[in-house]
Amino acid sequence: CGIIGVTGTGPVVPRLIDSLKRLEYRGYDSAGIAVQNGEGVQRRRAKGKIRELEAVLAADPVAGTVGIGHTRWATHGAPTTTNAHPHKAGRVCLVHNGIIENFAELKAEMEAEGRIFESQTDTEVVAHLLDHKLAAGMTPLDAFKATLDRLTGAYALAVLIEGDDELILGARRGSPLVVGWGEGEMYLGSDALAVGPFTQKISYLEEGDYVVLSRTGARMFDASGHPADRAVVQVSASSALVEKGEYRHFMEKEIHEQPDSVQHTLSEYLDLVSGKVKVPSVDFAAVERIQIVACGTAFYASQIGKYAFERYAGLPCDIEIASEFRYRQPAVTQGTLAVAVSQSGETADTLASLTWCKAQGLKTAAVVNVHSSSMAREAEVLWPTHAGPEIGVASTKAFTAQVAALLSLAVAAGVARGKIDAAQEAELVKALFEAPRLIAEALQMDAGIHALTIDLAKARDVLFLGRGPMFPLAMEGALKLKEISYIHAEGYAAGELKHGPIALIDEATPTVALAPLDDLFEKTASNLQEVAARGGPVIMIAPEKAPDPHGAGIRRVHAPDCPALISPLVYAVPMQLLAYYTAVQKGTDVDQPRNLAKSVTVE
Ligand code: G6P
Repeated sequence: CGIIGVTGTGPVVPRLIDSLKRLEYRGYDSAGIAVQNGEGVQRRRAKGKIRELEAVLAADPVAGTVGIGHTRWATHGAPTTTNAHPHKAGRVCLVHNGIIENFAELKAEMEAEGRIFESQTDTEVVAHLLDHKLAAGMTPLDAFKATLDRLTGAYALAVLIEGDDELILGARRGSPLVVGWGEGEMYLGSDALAVGPFTQKISYLEEGDYVVLSRTGARMFDASGHPADRAVVQVSASSALVEKGEYRHFMEKEIHEQPDSVQHTLSEYLDLVSGKVKVPSVDFAAVERIQIVACGTAFYASQIGKYAFERYAGLPCDIEIASEFRYRQPAVTQGTLAVAVSQSGETADTLASLTWCKAQGLKTAAVVNVHSSSMAREAEVLWPTHAGPEIGVASTKAFTAQVAALLSLAVAAGVARGKIDAAQEAELVKALFEAPRLIAEALQMDAGIHALTIDLAKARDVLFLGRGPMFPLAMEGALKLKEISYIHAEGYAAGELKHGPIALIDEATPTVALAPLDDLFEKTASNLQEVAARGGPVIMIAPEKAPDPHGAGIRRVHAPDCPALISPLVYAVPMQLLAYYTAVQKGTDVDQPRNLAKSVTVE
């Protein structure tokens, strides 16, 4: 979704529309604006594209100099005008990106106060909470902070308050938000692109920050309510699509975009309000077997998918490297659903495998990030990921989007096949929607990981270990490190360690272990003791509450504790940060590593 806010002196509506159009690439299903104009806050909203909103405005114009706007990608409730943002309650009118995880509980509390809700969104409850506190006599700033303290989940917010005519409030947690500095005007946007038409002077809010904008400036506060000064940086005038913004590299930027891109992708397949999967475009009850084909990072995402399809749907799932599959005359059976997984949708081997499966008469689907790509057109069913454009050659946010899509589809398959009942469905859907917040939390591991990479950058070989879905993630972690730091790395199933790779262990060969606190934790921990006993340095990525394995030389980095289903999404973040900071340490070309290409359209 996209957010824009403008507090200025000229007509604001055309500027909001201009900005929303620039946010079009994020995809949307409804849009809306609200303005202050001395007669209160007025809203205009429409289902569909920005041009529908323009038609509404042409028929029913509104004027003002202070306003907010939003393009929506539905997460809660269908894309209707009523569910479109801004949402209004009493004096409060606001737009929101992200997910309020505890909205049901808060809504019940507000309803008990006699408040009437008009939409099915999670967002509306924020407006009611804030209005409730204003009605109790709190100042806008105090009421806003008190409201934020009640919210669990991820959000970027922009808020108007009727009667406070030049004020815009903003807050960021898990979903990015920037402040734009103008001459006698101030702006708020979901990224540099949103405020691009008005200013190139930007402050990036940090996690937990909130801000009060007036025409002449911004007062920023950190999560604990202390005044915070965020640097003003100059971004280039060209499209923020190809801008790195506050980041040194596209890869770093894309790693940080994951709370958003994962949420966006989950929303394609799941609905948190109902706690249900959306009806999948394939009848999974009629599918006997899944055959996935993919290359590179998409191959590892697919392997994580395999674990989920078999565990949650009891659906046999094979996964193969496309360049092997296409040439080995595989024995496929009717009743098999062939699935190509690809960021670009153009990888030659994957496309050829897909085409071959189609020619065998198999039903075909493609999980792709570029929705106009060859694979998207070739497959009967398009299962989109919504990572947005990925510029860094080493894939990060496209990977987690693929994992998010495949996990959601596995749950959908489980429901369709009667392996998951309504209560389990609700629990799994809820767990998946916790991923954006937990990914944002995992991004806070940044400093800890950075410190470790000083040693890691000196290594010649690195081993990555994991069990269950952490095994393919270990391979993806090794691939990331190889790709951008040029350090040799291998990902292994932790249980396979003693069948060979343990021979490599010495003081100079670090082992990175992915050890979420699941039913396999103890087994992974004992593998780490085996490594430590042979003098190998170990980095153990595990939740803080996980017990310490005995052994000298085991360094721990604390990852968020999370439901088992989403651990591949959360643990992907430390893998990516580890590779990223090691490469930065070594001074390699992070975004364009040697010899690699973003999309391999040749064999
Ligand atoms: C190239 C890229 C990888 C990517 C692979 C598959 O090797 O460098 O990052 O994982 O192709 O690409 P696809 O577009 O099919 O996901």
